[in-house]
Amino acid sequence: MSDTPVRTALWDGPTRLFHWSLAALILAAWLTAGKSMEWHKLCGYAVLGLIVFRLWWGVAGGSTARFASFLKGPKTTLAYVSGLGSRKAGETAGHNPLGAWSVAAMLLLIALQAGLGLFATDIDGIESGPLSDKVDFDTGRLFSEWHELAFRVLQGLIGLHLAAIAFYAIWKRENLVGPMITGARRFSGAVAPLRKAPLWSLAVGVVLAVAAAWLIAKGFRVKL
Ligand code: HEM
Ligand code: HEM
Repeated sequence: MSDTPVRTALWDGPTRLFHWSLAALILAAWLTAGKSMEWHKLCGYAVLGLIVFRLWWGVAGGSTARFASFLKGPKTTLAYVSGLGSRKAGETAGHNPLGAWSVAAMLLLIALQAGLGLFATDIDGIESGPLSDKVDFDTGRLFSEWHELAFRVLQGLIGLHLAAIAFYAIWKRENLVGPMITGARRFSGAVAPLRKAPLWSLAVGVVLAVAAAWLIAKGFRVKL
């Protein structure tokens, strides 16, 4: 263990690009909702593509992006929570055990949010998702209500996400945002550095994401 902080790679490029694109697209989906529905739906398809990419990256991406590397059981998570009040900055090269569960919750809720939109239909039946014809009008309206309800919950989770980042910055004097931009941060102890995924894995992830977004936008009706 050395005392001089050493700059260590933490987040790979695709994870960072995923994060900032996701945040921008959710903001855009919010701003266009009920106003510019073509754009709203396009943002939603892109969000679903990103989620597919992240699921792939969670098993075949860089080491710190892999679900198996950051999702921990209740014992580890509770032990982490009990030490949250300490003002010492964390030494985790990746998501901490509590943050990891909020990441999982956000990804699931975002998938649900966009998934519900696919079946949603507005009150006059003019604007609807590409799978709304699979359900009757009343069910489509129900999906719309759930779509709006899910968004309220998502807003809450995003609020918590930002509050947690502010808590780390103010209470623990730990800047989490910098590494999500540059990919690296200084650690005073020895930590296992990021192991990057091979380029072919990134290529597979991109192809899967684009294909999924395209198929979903077409409502899975593809004429060859
Ligand atoms: C993460 C992505 C998404 C977010 C954050 C989001 C958010 C919202 C919000 C907040 C509304 C309510 C607008 C209002 O009436 O005030 C809305 C409406 C709607 N969204 Fe989305 N949405 C997303 C994805 C999608 C997708 C993928 C589709 C379908 C392709 C979709 C289709 C619709 C439709 C049809 C409505 C109108 C429902 C109605 O007027 O009752 N949305 N969305
Ligand atoms: C719609 C808005 C946002 C959503 C949905 C969102 C979602 C997420 C998700 C899913 C992750 C996990 C990344 C991964 O492993 O793939 C994450 C991490 C992170 N986000 Fe956001 N984010 C949003 C906005 C922001 C903003 C505005 C900031 C900066 C102020 C931010 C800072 C971070 C940081 C620093 C991390 C890494 C946390 C850690 O060190 O464990 N996010 N976010």
